[in-house]
Amino acid sequence: MGKIIVVASGKGGVGKTTVTANISIALAAEGNSVVAVDTDLGLRNLDLALGLENSVIYDIVDAALENCRVREAIIKDEKYGKLAFMPASQFKDDISVEFSKYEKLFFELKDKYDYVVVDCPAGIGDMVKGIIKISDMAIIVANPDPYSLRDADKLAYIMEETGVTDIRLIINRMRKNMIFKGVMPDIRSIMETLAVRLLGVVYEDEKFVECSIMGIPVVMDSKNKQKKVFTEIAQRIDGSNIPIKEIRKKRFFK
Ligand SMILES: Nc1ncnc2c1ncn2[C@@H]1O[C@H](COP(=O)(O)OP(=O)(O)O)[C@@H](O)[C@H]1O
Ligand SMILES: [Mg+2]
Repeated sequence: MGKIIVVASGKGGVGKTTVTANISIALAAEGNSVVAVDTDLGLRNLDLALGLENSVIYDIVDAALENCRVREAIIKDEKYGKLAFMPASQFKDDISVEFSKYEKLFFELKDKYDYVVVDCPAGIGDMVKGIIKISDMAIIVANPDPYSLRDADKLAYIMEETGVTDIRLIINRMRKNMIFKGVMPDIRSIMETLAVRLLGVVYEDEKFVECSIMGIPVVMDSKNKQKKVFTEIAQRIDGSNIPIKEIRKKRFFK
């Protein structure tokens, strides 16, 4: 029996799909069987992030409605090893499928894979609420700005109320020079204001944008420094106690 990991955020565009793609590949590279599932119905992107958009035939809605077999809605590509992928549908109308059908599907996936990593739409709609209820771990993705962090805090509170016991935060798009200038709070200052455990910090890097255009996640490039960042996040998810490297604001002592 595996674990369902939900990747969610209050605000849109913070990096959920990027994080889902890279974490899923990193978890699979650690030897886990992983399925990355896109639940952003109507606004799917994970197929593009993984460069698998041309392989999509069936999707999560077909699988939930039993229009196809579950395995027919799962895409595998040799380059991703033990990672499989289930796309979202193109149409928002499919949201009307009752959640119990998705729930059955998620439990089937959980039975078969070590990790079911779920890329969510932004906010806290019915689909996200349903997945949160059945998840074993929640990863909130936030950017280091006050709006995103406040939304993350609110989301963590809702998750806790729903009964999720393992809630983690990934701060994405951190900027070193802004920390040094004192414009952006450093990690320690951010974490002092939030009641959630930190899973990882990902810095601003234009490689992410290049990779999203090419459909090749950054972790696929073994020379890219982001590979280490996501490998360590995967190892933390797997239970290793790897410290998070901090970049602190310059302090001047007299
Ligand atoms: N750490 C980062 N540095 C630079 N660009 C990033 C970073 N993380 C994500 N991006 C870019 O931000 C955009 C939105 O990311 P995405 O993962 O689609 O967000 P979401 O799924 O939350 O809407 C994409 O173009 C992605 O390449
Ligand atoms: Mg997305």
